[in-house]
Amino acid sequence: MLNFNRSRSQARTNRSMSLGGMDFVDPKKKSSYVGKILLAASLTAFCILVLKQSPTFNTPSAFSRHEPGITHVLVTGGAGYIGSHAVLRLLKDSYRVTIVDNLSRGNLGAVKVLQGLFPEPNRLQFIYADLGDAKAVNKIFSENAFDAVMHFAAVAYVGESTLDPLRYYHNITSNTLVVLEAMAAHGVGTLIYSSTCATYGEPEKMPITEETPQVPINPYGKAKKMAEDIILDFHTNSNMAVMILRYFNVIGSDPEGRLGEAPRPELREHGRISGACFDAARGIIPGLKVRGTDYKTADGTCIRDYIDVTDLVDAHVKALEKAMPGKVGIYNVGTGRGRSVKEFVEACKKATGVTIKVDFLDRRPGDYAEVLADPTKILRELNWTAQYTNLQESLQVAWRWQKSHLNGYNS
Ligand SMILES: NC(=O)c1ccc[n+]([C@@H]2O[C@H](COP(=O)([O-])OP(=O)(O)OC[C@H]3O[C@@H](n4cnc5c(N)ncnc54)[C@H](O)[C@@H]3O)[C@@H](O)[C@H]2O)c1
Repeated sequence: MLNFNRSRSQARTNRSMSLGGMDFVDPKKKSSYVGKILLAASLTAFCILVLKQSPTFNTPSAFSRHEPGITHVLVTGGAGYIGSHAVLRLLKDSYRVTIVDNLSRGNLGAVKVLQGLFPEPNRLQFIYADLGDAKAVNKIFSENAFDAVMHFAAVAYVGESTLDPLRYYHNITSNTLVVLEAMAAHGVGTLIYSSTCATYGEPEKMPITEETPQVPINPYGKAKKMAEDIILDFHTNSNMAVMILRYFNVIGSDPEGRLGEAPRPELREHGRISGACFDAARGIIPGLKVRGTDYKTADGTCIRDYIDVTDLVDAHVKALEKAMPGKVGIYNVGTGRGRSVKEFVEACKKATGVTIKVDFLDRRPGDYAEVLADPTKILRELNWTAQYTNLQESLQVAWRWQKSHLNGYNS
C-alpha cells in the first residue's frame, strides 16, 4: 500500500526566501523539487499501469454493446408513473434498461427505488436528457446499443393540452419524430409506442375497437394521433417492428408497494380521477367535484374503462416479445368493462375508508359520456387480458402507497 500522507518531520528551513525583492532559491531546495516531480511522475505512471491492467480499462460499458441473449430496452419517461412500473417489470424479467427522462414530470426518487432494487452492474442506467434536444438524443443513441425503445415520455393531461396546445404538439409529436429518427439512424429495430384512447375522440359506437375512426377532439389526442401517423408512414418503408398501444384510463400501482403515482402538486388541477380521490381522502382538497349527472348512462355520470398499471406493463412486455420486424400491431389496452364516476367514487371511499365529500356539478365541456375498450384483438393476438379488474382492490393498493408517501418520492 502506498501511503500518501507523508509526515512533516523536517523544519521548514528550505523554503524560498525573499531577499530585498529578489527570490533566492536554495540549491538544496531545488533538488528537493526535482525529487518531488520525479516522485509525482512515477506515481502517475504507476496509476496508469494499474488502471490499464484492470479488466474494465478500455472496455466499453455493457450498455454500449449488444450482447447475445440480453435485450437492452430504452425506456423514455422511465421516471414517470407508467414508465417506472414498466422498468420494474423489465428488470424483473432480466432485460437491460436505460431510462431517459428530463424529470420535468417524473421523479428521481422512482429511479433511486429501481436502482436500489437492481444494484447489479449493467442492469439499469439513468440518463438525464430532454427528448426535444435532437443532438443529445443522437449522442445517447450513438453511445448505447439499444435493441428496443418503449417511448412513454410525454406530457399527458387533456385539460392542460387545451390551455397550452403548442407544448403538446412539441413534446408529443415533434419529440416522437426525434426518437424515431434516432432509431432509424442507429438501426434500432423495435418500437413500443404509448398512445391513448383520446385519439378516438367521441365515437358513436361503443365499445371502441382498433378500427373505430380516430377523430380526436383535444390537442393531447391530436398530438398522439399525429405521432401515430408519423410512425405508420415511416414504417411503410422500414423493417422496424412497431407496436402501438392505446391505453384507456390507467390506475393502481405496484402491488408490493415499491412504486406509486406522484404527479407534481402544481398539476393537481389537471389531474386524473384517482389522484383527485386520494387528495380528497387526505384532506388536501375539500372534496370531489363530479361534473355531469345527466349523461345517457345508467346513473347519469360518465363511464370509463380503468386499466391497472400492472396489467398495462404486462401488455408492453407481451408486445415487446411478439413484435415482428416489418410488422405493425395496434392494440387497445383496456378491460372492456366500464365504471361510472359514481361507482368509482364509491370504490374510492371503500378503498380509503374515508367519507369523501362529493359535489355534483354541471357537465364540463369536452367530456364524453362513455369510453369503453374492446380488448378482443389484444387477447387474440398477444394473449393478453386484464387480471387486476377489481377497482376497489387496485385503488386500495394505490392508496397504501399514497398514505406511506405523503410527499410522494420525497417522503
Ligand atoms: N396515465 C394515463 O392514464 C395514460 C393514459 C393513456 C396514455 N398515457 C401515456 O402514457 C405515457 C406515460 O404517462 P404517465 O401517466 O406515466 O405520465 P408521467 O407524467 O407520470 O410520465 C411521463 C414522463 O416523461 C418525462 N418527460 C416528459 N417530457 C419529456 C421530455 N421532453 N424528455 C424527456 N422526458 C420527458 C417526464 O419527466 C415523466 O417522467 C404518456 O405517453 C401518456 O400519454 C397515459
